[in-house]
Amino acid sequence: MVCLGNICRSPLAEGIMKHKIEQAGLDWQVESRGTGSWHVGNLPDKRSIVVARLHGLDITDQRSQQLEKADLQNFDLIYAMDTSNYRNTVAMANNETESSKVKMILNESEPGMNKSVPDPYYDEDGFEQVYQMLDKACELALKRLINKA
Ligand code: 4NP
Repeated sequence: MVCLGNICRSPLAEGIMKHKIEQAGLDWQVESRGTGSWHVGNLPDKRSIVVARLHGLDITDQRSQQLEKADLQNFDLIYAMDTSNYRNTVAMANNETESSKVKMILNESEPGMNKSVPDPYYDEDGFEQVYQMLDKACELALKRLINKA
């Protein structure tokens, strides 16, 4: 799960997807990263922690990490939160195999629309909306991936 700072959107996506995977009895690995380095080592944004907690998820074990080239090798699937993250992630790919792993997460709920999860960093009220978008996209992604597996 990739966003810009790895403190608002992608930590929520990681927490949501991990929970769904656990509920499905799978042992798939989910991590999150930011394309930027400003917040490396930091906890998720308080507002993400609060909205996750309201939905029964604890994301306080997470610390911000910056996306590295090795991540494109090591993970099977990489979800970008917005078009800018998508472009920056694809630009780090070594080859077509790696670039084809990168997807826009909201294409799971609205296929082919290439919609971005809005950056809630400067919007106090945006976090619940982001949670709902990610919950829906992760639910559908998991269903699709289970059927494919
Ligand atoms: P995120 O949100 O990409 O969802 O983690 C942001 C967090 C920090 C900044 C921008 C977006 N920032 O500019 O520091």
